[in-house]
Amino acid sequence: MCGIVGYTGAQSAAPILLAGLKNLEYRGYDSAGIAVLDKGAISMAKASGQIKNLCQKTNDGAELHGSAGIGHTRWATHGAPTDTNAHPHLSNDGKFAVVHNGIIENYMALREELMEEGFVFASETDTEVIVHLLDLYFKATGDCKLAVMKAASRLEGSYALGVICAERPGRVYAVKEASPLILGVGIGENFFASDVTALIAHTKNIIYLDDGEFAEITPDRITVYDCAGTPKKKPIFRVAWDIEAAEKGGYEHFMLKEIMEQPRALKATIEPRIKDGRIAFEGLPDDYLAGIEKIVISACGSAYYAGCAGRYAIEELCRIPVETELASELRYRNPLIDEHTLLIVISQSGETADTIAAVRECKARGAKTLAIVNVVGSTIAKLADNVIYTWAGPEIAVATTKGYTTQVAALNMFAVYAAERLGRISPERYAALVEALRSMPERVQRAIDLNKNIPELAKRYHDNQSLFFIGRNIDYAICLEGSLKLKEISYLHSEAYAAGELKHGTIALIEEGRLVISVACHEALFDKMMSNIKEVKARGAKVLAVVLEGNRRIFSEADDVLFVPVGEPLFMAAIEIVPLQLFAYHMARENGCDIDKPKNLAKSVTVE
Ligand code: F6R
Repeated sequence: MCGIVGYTGAQSAAPILLAGLKNLEYRGYDSAGIAVLDKGAISMAKASGQIKNLCQKTNDGAELHGSAGIGHTRWATHGAPTDTNAHPHLSNDGKFAVVHNGIIENYMALREELMEEGFVFASETDTEVIVHLLDLYFKATGDCKLAVMKAASRLEGSYALGVICAERPGRVYAVKEASPLILGVGIGENFFASDVTALIAHTKNIIYLDDGEFAEITPDRITVYDCAGTPKKKPIFRVAWDIEAAEKGGYEHFMLKEIMEQPRALKATIEPRIKDGRIAFEGLPDDYLAGIEKIVISACGSAYYAGCAGRYAIEELCRIPVETELASELRYRNPLIDEHTLLIVISQSGETADTIAAVRECKARGAKTLAIVNVVGSTIAKLADNVIYTWAGPEIAVATTKGYTTQVAALNMFAVYAAERLGRISPERYAALVEALRSMPERVQRAIDLNKNIPELAKRYHDNQSLFFIGRNIDYAICLEGSLKLKEISYLHSEAYAAGELKHGTIALIEEGRLVISVACHEALFDKMMSNIKEVKARGAKVLAVVLEGNRRIFSEADDVLFVPVGEPLFMAAIEIVPLQLFAYHMARENGCDIDKPKNLAKSVTVE
């Protein structure tokens, strides 16, 4: 949800900013801009559309001179994605430029106040108030650091800001409140960015800025202050992955690369936590679930669907009631959550605004909070009492794949771990489930290898404008994710239904040629699924079935079949989703869609 980047050093800033923005483009891509400091003046370029337009306009940055600057890629909230609304925004005297990720909630009041002071607004954005506040406080104090502090103290909402001032050559400022921002420590050059992918080509040494902190950055020094202006010592962390992880590596799209990476990502999530046949989660005490009477899983989008899939194993093995609730709904109810509740929140980015709010709400009610998160040092990781990291590596494609499967794996692992701690499973069952977890990466690989016919199927089905996914039990949870994957990247309408529910209304939409994707891997319910498949076939539907390898009975009804390897039924979600991810990918490819950057979406949803 908008990406920002900043640089100061000895090199020309513009090409570095543009390269950083390209790596942040998954966060928003409807317009972009950069501003560079040179000889006491700011030069700026902006372009609507993707970053390639800005590259063209600036001759890949060669047209802007200067060795300190800031850049922005936008996901529009306030005002259309035009050149004028694109960031950076300039003060009226041209001395300050600012880039912003987040939302300023009190911007209307500030705008009125600043207009009364005589400031002229050029854009419709909430961001522009910031640059005029900087101007106002700089004129009043003559101190740039103080101006940044004072301006930040007037803002309500969420922001990660990058600032340059024409009167402070070689200096960039970065401030953060409830939006992600990291600092990159180089040699003779320093950086800031919304996330590591923008910096990894230059440095692996990172400082995580906390809410309320701000940084003054020169080529040789990074000084971090708290909101009162007192300098703070901050630890430097070393990023564990390399530049290759953030590149396409020969694949046509990041999404395909990330689907193929899933066996490796799952191995990284599962293996290090199994020692001598036992599951251990760092930081979770042995009596972690003592006094817990209910588990609530909350998240958004695919992360929520991972929760829906993971719920089955936790409830089945631990015999504790598990509820799933969308974070955006939970925060506006008066939920029955107290100190006997464990809240599990799930988030790839760790920055989703609704999920953050759900954690805060449940903490305030006394719940214990456990976060399943991919991005180290993210807001949710810091906010929750405990964290289980999914070691999926950077996920660049907007549509999540390895993020989702590693979330499901983490939930499955937690289910076995918790059941054993609660004394609810036998040692034999525990050992068998640990083995099933261990085999997950190779079964995902098998699910990839088994379904080489998917590009062909996509050729046949890509112009279906409306589809259904049906399944029961965990298969239904998979349908929810499979359907979301398809619609978000191929723009086809699709709906996921619990197979038994179809006849209560929706079957009215089944007609000649309608494609119904029927997930029927849950052996115990296979006969029930066959009945549902017959019902839709009788009404003219075409059926593409997903079943366990070796299932022959399906051929009597299905038009086409995808297979997944047999395994522990409770842990099928991470396996079954793979052919549906590939199906969504190839359908979108056939339809000529921009797969890694689907329209209207952004990777990290930091607004409500
Ligand atoms: C869909 C997708 C989104 C995210 C959702 C939550 O492919 O990626 O639905 O799952 O926006 O994001 P995180 O996991 O970052 O909290």
